[in-house]
Order: sequence, then structure tokens, then C-alpha cells
Amino acid sequence: RPLQNMTFVLFGATGDLAQRKLFPALYNLYLDGKLPETISIVGLGRNYCSDEIFQSKVEKALYAYSRRSIHASSLPAFLEKFRYCSFDATEKESYYKLRELIENRENELGIPQNRLFYLSVAPSLIDIITSHLSKSGISQNNGWKRLIVEKPFGNSLKTARKLNENLSNVFREEEIYRIDHYLGKPMVQKLRTLILANPILESLLNHKQISNVQITASETVGVENRADYYDKAGAIRDMVQNHLLQLVTMTAVYLSDNFMKNKGRVKKTDIIASLQPIRKEKAYQSVVRGQYGPGEVQGNPVIGYKEEPGVNDSSTNDTFFAARLSIEHPSWNGIPFYIRTGKRMNQKSTQIVIEFENKVMDLNTQLGSSPNLMILEISPNESISLRVNLKDPSSTGYKPVWIDFSTSSENQPEAYELLLYDALRGDSTFFADWREVELSWKWIQPLLEAYQEELLPLYSYPAGSTGPEMANELLLTDQSKWW
Ligand code: BG6
Repeated sequence: RPLQNMTFVLFGATGDLAQRKLFPALYNLYLDGKLPETISIVGLGRNYCSDEIFQSKVEKALYAYSRRSIHASSLPAFLEKFRYCSFDATEKESYYKLRELIENRENELGIPQNRLFYLSVAPSLIDIITSHLSKSGISQNNGWKRLIVEKPFGNSLKTARKLNENLSNVFREEEIYRIDHYLGKPMVQKLRTLILANPILESLLNHKQISNVQITASETVGVENRADYYDKAGAIRDMVQNHLLQLVTMTAVYLSDNFMKNKGRVKKTDIIASLQPIRKEKAYQSVVRGQYGPGEVQGNPVIGYKEEPGVNDSSTNDTFFAARLSIEHPSWNGIPFYIRTGKRMNQKSTQIVIEFENKVMDLNTQLGSSPNLMILEISPNESISLRVNLKDPSSTGYKPVWIDFSTSSENQPEAYELLLYDALRGDSTFFADWREVELSWKWIQPLLEAYQEELLPLYSYPAGSTGPEMANELLLTDQSKWW
């Protein structure tokens, strides 16, 4: 898809995401020649600030967060694309002012009325902004329009549906880009071609060989300064409903021989729709939730969740979530998927592990081997490794060894860069469509109810550990363990 000249309107231009991710992403795209030839970028924020000051804030963010060093000579032309508009999302006059600015720039630059709106704002403002975009005529333009929305997309099935209904009054489904930055991680984007380019994997990744799949997204950070949001969201809304379920479906669609057999016709929605619902009364059998207590993370003592600033000292919010999922789909029937995520764990790591069936037994010693594993590390490093067994000459058994391929993640494009580029071109492949979001909330909903009705215990785990002990028991029924 070719890039077309356009206006990029950023709501929340003074926020954290803009500084850390969006400005650096735009700059790196610019260096790679991946911005439209002429682009007008309009940043919106509540406070007054001149264009010059805004541009110098953008510059500061680039020096602080760009993955590549700044080319002083190319900087002025990049910054010149930016304009600022002080803005109150609830006030209709603000939208008329914005419309005027957008149109003036379009005329000045001689570009068509192609408009991309990026909402990096509090969830409560999304409805208000989209309805004002329509009422003020900004979204009734003579060109294409697109809307990028950040998570959280609702906080329950009901609120997500309502939000979607409101958005669809102004934007068509194909104009809405629901961002899930895990879908922008380079390794996740590579899953699609992994089997296509490596026919030997097709014979490995099949129903007969795979014993279980484990997906982990662990973090060392705690709640940081986001208690306001996080204490209401918890790990289940913050990580599971979106990132983890997306990883489950990406794995189930692409790491399967069925993908080849069906010529890629299995869709992500087919997979989410076939996730077996977990009944709230039975949730305790396949879900473990936890909250970190005080401990030590990589040598540094840290406080427990309840002591964090902004968190209620009787909070029952979860900072850890693990579950056993079943997918009732011909490719995955009977193969459990285990997922887990947590804050303040022992390491920062996102990975997909495929554990293979293991039937090897040494005839002489009767000693078994360890299962073969395929590990796809998604972040912070990217690697693919395969664990095989070798006869260990120094003992009577087998010794597992790794066949390893790692790439350095240094100077790889960041998730936001890849996703923004797709949205600029109008390619929504790596964005979550409404059906996926709705189905994932549907799967989550009984668990939220189980929380509310106190049907699921909350286990404590020391900061710096791998989570509550109970999470290990989830795998015992399958005679496995977390890798
Ligand atoms: C965000 C969550 O979506 O993802 C954060 O809101 C979390 O709580 C972050 O820390 C993790 O992303 P990454 O890319 O660091 O794994």
C-alpha cells in the first residue's frame, strides 16, 4: 500500500506515550523514508504552548528515547512538520479551532484531506472526542479517515460493546485501528512466515507431537506511577484480555501445520471463538491470581503492592495471572495452552514455549530424556531455540543441549514504529479487529465475575520470584512445569 500525503492528529501529545514512543517512532520512520512525502502533524494537549515550544519538546523526547541517534542536520525539517493546538476535549469551540488549523495546514501544504486521528487519551474521553469529531465536521472530510485507539478498549464486555457502538457511529470498522503493541513486536510479526519459510517446522508443529504450549510475559517493574489505573484494571485487563490472548491466537493460528494445510485460512477470530469458556464456579481449577508482596528484584529490595503509592492497603487487585486454556479447534484439541503474566517477577521476558511429547526411554538404564522444547523469545531479546537431548558420556542418562539462534534487538524497529507505519499506509493486519476484542472480553467476563464474587483466591508472592506457588500446580495435571 502506498503512503499518501496526510494530516496526523495526535490527541494526548503532551502525554507519556507520545514522548516515549510516538515521537521517536515518527522520527525513525522519517529517517527511513517511511513518512509520506508531505505530512502535517498536529499535536493536541490541554495546556497552552507555542508551536516552537512544542517542537522543542518533541526534540527533547527524541534525544531521550529515539532508538537511533539524532541527525542534527535532518532535525529541523522533521520538526517543521509539527504544529500544536491547545485543546479541551469537552469543549466544542476547541474542535472548531482544530478544524481551522487542520484545514489551513492542508491548504498551505497542498495536501488532500486524508486524516489519521490517534487517541492517546484517558478512556473516558474517547467517546466525547469521536462524537465531537463528527459534529464539528472534522471527520466529514473529502479524503480517507482513520482512527487509532489505545487500550484499554473498555473494562468489561458491556463497556467494550458500548464503546464500539459509539465509535462505529463515526468510523467504519475498517477505519478503526485498535492498537495492541504486542502485535507490533518484530518476533510476533515473524510468526506468520516462520512455517512458510521453514517446511521442517510443519512436521514438528502438529497435533501428534505437541504436548503443551506455554506463554509467559513477566516483568520486573511494579505498578510504577500508574496505581490510579492499574489498581482498577489488574493484570487480567492490563495484560491478559489484550496482549496474552493475542499471543495465544497468533501462536495457535501460525504455529500449526493446519496453517499450511488450510492455506492460511484459519483466522484469529476462529481461535478466540473456540477458547473453551471457564465457568466462574470452576475458575479456581484453571486460574491462579496473585499479588506481589515485598521482596528483592535483581538484588534491589522493593516494597509490596499494597505499600505502593496510590494503592489502597487493603487492595485485592491482581498483579499476577496464570491460567490453563483449552482451544476446541481441530488443530489444537487436547493441547493445553498455559499463560502467565506478572509484575515484579524475577525477570523481564516474553516468550512462547512449545513443549513436545516425550516418549524417549533408554532401554539399558530405563532413564527418560527431557522433553524437546522450541522456545521463541519475543522480548527483550529475540531468539529461537530448540532443545534436544544428547547421550551424556559422563553419566548414564541424557543431557539436554540447545540449538540456538538469537538476533540482537538493538536497532530493530520498535513495535510502535511498525504499527504506525502500517496505519499510515492503511494496513490493519496487525491491529485487533472488533470481533477479536469482543470475543476476548467474552472469555474474560466470567473470570471478572469470579473475582467480584470472591470465587478465586488471591495468592501472595514475594517480589522477585516467579509468582505464587499455586501457579506451578496448574501444570501438574499435565505432568509438566513452567519452562
Ligand atoms: C502495557 C501495560 O500494555 O504493556 C503495562 O499497560 C506493561 O502494564 C506493558 O508494563 C508491557 O509491555 P512490554 O512491551 O514492556 O512487554
